[in-house]
Amino acid sequence: MALRFHELRVVDIERQTPEAVAIAFDVPDDLRETFAFRPGQYLTLATTIDGEDIRRSYSICSAPGEDRLRVGVKKVADGRFSRFVNDLLSVGDTIRVMPPEGRFTSLIGPRHDYLLVASGSGITPMLSIAKTVLGHEPDSTVTLIYGNRSTETIMFREELDDLKDRYMQRFSLIHLLSREKQDVDLLNGRIDGERVRLLAERGLVDPKGCDGVFLCGPGEMIDDVSTMLKAYGVDGDRIRFERFTPSGEAPKPRAPSVAARQAVEAGATVEVLLDGVRRNFAMGEEDATVLDAAHRAGIELPYSCAGGMCCTCRCRVVEGESELAVNFSLEPWEIEAGFTLACQTRPTSDRLVLDFDAA
Ligand code: FES
Repeated sequence: MALRFHELRVVDIERQTPEAVAIAFDVPDDLRETFAFRPGQYLTLATTIDGEDIRRSYSICSAPGEDRLRVGVKKVADGRFSRFVNDLLSVGDTIRVMPPEGRFTSLIGPRHDYLLVASGSGITPMLSIAKTVLGHEPDSTVTLIYGNRSTETIMFREELDDLKDRYMQRFSLIHLLSREKQDVDLLNGRIDGERVRLLAERGLVDPKGCDGVFLCGPGEMIDDVSTMLKAYGVDGDRIRFERFTPSGEAPKPRAPSVAARQAVEAGATVEVLLDGVRRNFAMGEEDATVLDAAHRAGIELPYSCAGGMCCTCRCRVVEGESELAVNFSLEPWEIEAGFTLACQTRPTSDRLVLDFDAA
């Protein structure tokens, strides 16, 4: 069953920093199961701004079992949605929210040693993962490297300090600040691969010894740290990441290939199977992707980031050929199994059939 939006009421807005808030939703009893989540997952929020339907994904910062479903939203200069949430949204308002999604989650089991690396608002899924792992696995340890500009911009500072007090022996927190001087030189500056390597060499983190490394932040930080970790001997399977663009806007996709352009010129059509219903539409020259063409035909397909990052639009190619403009979220096995992202898919054959109901 494809995901659908639900109207949820905002019950709390807590200012975290001058530029970020945590908002809490009331989840009615009949939607509790629908909004059950795993630590590290995100919600897609949607609203209409200046007549345009805008949606953005925000990671859940609460842990499963906590009273409130909360997400953290940092205001970015050119981010219309984050400005709306920070400046206009009020307690008592309702907003459209899609049920939790995402594969950036930790296993909860007997024992894990995790290294979490977060930059800015990348802390939100990490907070959920840290609280859950520490709270449910009595022998597990979590080390968090958290990068910010200054103390003032650290989101969830109090909650992180509480975690440190509560799990003194099992939770290590390393703050890196890029525009505020700290006593230890190594802690001054942005997170990058070299800094993580130096932290490892000084024995402050142990990437090789941990069960998993979770990275959340801008793409360049993730790429740089992942490359270093792999060169340092960390198995790629143990590195998980969730990337975001600082503006919240989708990154620019690659231009269509010759085959994709020819398919459109030849009148390529797309059939989608969604919630058991089949619908057909044609790709036009103005459509950059299948999602655009569906939109133009008045067909609502599930999506969130529209940038190949979140997987909300994942579907399976059951007939025809296609190409992906960008892919930041599908795993190699999913590509192998025929999955694609509608927000990045372009047909390269005259007919393409996509199944959104495929598991
Ligand atoms: S909508 Fe996010 S990957 Fe397609």
